Amino acid sequence: MASDPAPLSARDLSERDLPGQDLPGQDLPEQGDPPAAADPTLADLPADVSPVWVRALGLAARAIGLSEPNPRVGCVLTDRDGRLLGQGFTQQAGGPHAEVMALRDAQRRGESVNGATAWVTLEPCAHHGRTPPCCDALIAAGLGAVRAASIDPFGAVAGEGLARLRAAGLDVRLAPEPGVRAAALALNPGFFSRVVRGRPWVRMKVAVSLDGRTALPNGASQWITGPQARHDGHAFRRRAGAVLTGVGTVIDDDPRLDVRGWPGTVQPIRVVVDSSLRTPATARLLAPPGQVWVAHAQGADAASAGAAAAADALRQAGALLLPVPAPGGKTDLAALLQALARRGVNELHVEAGEKLNASFLRAGLVDELLVYQAPRLLGAGAALAALGPWDSLAQAMTFELTDHRRVGDDLRLRLLRPGALAPLEQAMLAP
Ligand SMILES: NC(=O)c1ccc[n+]([C@@H]2O[C@H](COP(=O)([O-])OP(=O)(O)OC[C@H]3O[C@@H](n4cnc5c(N)ncnc54)[C@H](OP(=O)(O)O)[C@@H]3O)[C@@H](O)[C@H]2O)c1
Repeated sequence: MASDPAPLSARDLSERDLPGQDLPGQDLPEQGDPPAAADPTLADLPADVSPVWVRALGLAARAIGLSEPNPRVGCVLTDRDGRLLGQGFTQQAGGPHAEVMALRDAQRRGESVNGATAWVTLEPCAHHGRTPPCCDALIAAGLGAVRAASIDPFGAVAGEGLARLRAAGLDVRLAPEPGVRAAALALNPGFFSRVVRGRPWVRMKVAVSLDGRTALPNGASQWITGPQARHDGHAFRRRAGAVLTGVGTVIDDDPRLDVRGWPGTVQPIRVVVDSSLRTPATARLLAPPGQVWVAHAQGADAASAGAAAAADALRQAGALLLPVPAPGGKTDLAALLQALARRGVNELHVEAGEKLNASFLRAGLVDELLVYQAPRLLGAGAALAALGPWDSLAQAMTFELTDHRRVGDDLRLRLLRPGALAPLEQAMLAP
């Protein structure tokens, strides 16, 4: 029988330096090779980003689906002429960091890194875990300079890594071109959010018709968008530490909510928000590998003999029950987000129906909307979120459109809540 998820210790949440071992995944482009095929969840880099940063950011992108819950980091080592000496990216939790991978790569190539420059997309760590800090590894290897795209806001690092490198006489510079900083943040909004705000970065994904419907009145919604859009949506699930839905969607659609069609070593946790434990123990999302958490109202599992039996049936089916405060009978979503962050969830991918979507939006907890719009009219049906009715357009919730592209026959929109990035951007520059 599965036990309920225990909080991770502070140490668990900082596992950025665990035992070194050579892991697969270092089949890397050589000097002059074209960059790897872009990850569809990442924007194209601005043309003025220098090739060494393009390489370092591209390396970091290879840690998507691999390093969770650790940040995705890339590291490039060059000599004074800009020649590539070594390169690496963060391996899976428990594996080496990008800097160590790059040093090992240089050694494997027989290159000396004495006086070399390290280009890293996140400040090298400064704390002792099961391996020595990366800043010490760079100092010991005799590097001459470090260029970092961002400070690591994590408390045990937070500027200390750069300070130690400077104290050892290295030429250290932080935060280059805005385009590099923006791309470094786009790789790790969840890690920054968890550390800075104590909650995951929340991305709400919806498939809507041309008239904004997410389901027919009878609940049918599979499929509003085409296969390419659904495949693209799975690339965003792959980025997430957890994929979350409401019990209404579980009952209506019986989705699996796992990642299919993309390589990756880590399946996101699947979370059902289900105040009174209505999730059927036969739900399909309980079947794929990986964890399933049912977030329910505190005490609901003992509210009646029926509720206790439902809780037991879910546990027998492999689910972990996560009690969450529910002052008004419905699970408190802010408290749930904090609980997910404490358990190491960086990016939360919400794929729910109009009721739960509305609660997330009303609480101001949605950082990003990922909308796939199909060129079809559904007529009557469910909305993206059951909001309003409002009397004035001034009450409308406004988002900033940051990206739009065609995916198959559908349109993909990405939108941000105004101000969502500001605290994270600030943390990139100042500890
Ligand atoms: N097109 C799309 O992108 C898309 C995506 C997903 C779903 N859908 C469609 O959405 C429909 C289901 O919508 P739905 O609104 O019934 O389901 P939902 O939003 O997925 O789940 C709603 C349920 O979540 C529970 N809940 C727990 N805490 C809550 C909170 N704080 N706020 C709101 N709800 C909370 C409530 O049940 P308890 O009170 O019992 O906990 C509520 O009835 C289906 O037809 C499905 O096909 C469409």
